[in-house]
Amino acid sequence: MRVLGIETSCDETGIAIYDSKLGILINNIYSQINTHSKYGGVVPELAARSHNENIISLIKDALLKTHSSKNNINGIAYTAGPGLVGSLLVGASIAKSLAYAWNIPIITINHMEGHLLSPMLNNNKLSFPFLALLISGKHTQLIIANDIGNYNLLGESLDDAVGEVFDKIAVALGLKYPGGVSLSMLANHGFSNKYIFPKPLINKPNLMFSFSGLKTSVINTIYSLSNIDYQDKANIARSFEDTIIEILVNKCAKAINVSKLKRLVIAGGVSANNKLRFHLHNMISKKQGILFYPKKELCTDNGVMIAYAGLLHLKNGKYNNLETSIKPDWQIYSINYN
Ligand code: KG4
Ligand code: ZN
Repeated sequence: MRVLGIETSCDETGIAIYDSKLGILINNIYSQINTHSKYGGVVPELAARSHNENIISLIKDALLKTHSSKNNINGIAYTAGPGLVGSLLVGASIAKSLAYAWNIPIITINHMEGHLLSPMLNNNKLSFPFLALLISGKHTQLIIANDIGNYNLLGESLDDAVGEVFDKIAVALGLKYPGGVSLSMLANHGFSNKYIFPKPLINKPNLMFSFSGLKTSVINTIYSLSNIDYQDKANIARSFEDTIIEILVNKCAKAINVSKLKRLVIAGGVSANNKLRFHLHNMISKKQGILFYPKKELCTDNGVMIAYAGLLHLKNGKYNNLETSIKPDWQIYSINYN
């Protein structure tokens, strides 16, 4: 079975083809970072236009390079949500047009489910049920994954998402958007415990998160320092990163205790963070559990995770008709194909 995956939820146009026997055939990504970085965040109107400009050539290239066509593609999976309305509509329209022209099934994929399943692409030991920490630019959620398409929410952020906090602090430190990676690299040059930042909700027994107080405290510290130099910035970045990792590790440990699940997946852009991987691995090893994460290049948005999720749903006989639309606020725990 072969599935074409189309990802256009935010600022990456991702086109991929996944084959059940051969694996990833192609992973085409056009990143709009240069378009948006001067604004310090994604401009929805520009994002939709850019998807529209680039998507056809990415699809043509993917089909050509993998010798794929309507004759050997069994389904088209596209991100139906959550995401930006204009961006989602570009992917949905192309996906539906192709599915109509080729007369093949269409599969609507929840973007966060794409992230959640992506560690399965490189770990055959990962099986259901498992715990998942989804950490991206817009989401921070602890999920129990019971089966494909069957998820329960254990906890989530009451305010900012982890990636969003990384990005906003990075901007305050003068780093380019999206600043998660560069902030983490800067933190490598800083000393721990030079600054003490709040850890909201860390002592609460529940599995909810709150990051806006931490974000404000870090940004206020940055702006309070006159003549801030490179070492100050690195020390702040280090204390911030240590703090947010401590919170995430603490809540994951609680989730493992509550759920009794020993397999933990981290997915979404922030799962690329090496220090987070290291500390979560240490925590879960002490509990005789295993940590799973996607390959580095599949942590941030891509079409592979959408094609792969589409293939799993298609194998289960779950697909949609052409009247399907986008769902900009679609929650992973309300996926329902029945
Ligand atoms: O999943 P993703 O590509 O997009 C959304 O679905 O939101 O996640 C992007 C987020 C950005 O906030 C980016 O700064 C963050 O992931 N990110 C990181 C790292 N790599 C990407 N944050 C911390 N450390 C990293 N190494
Ligand atoms: Zn994402």
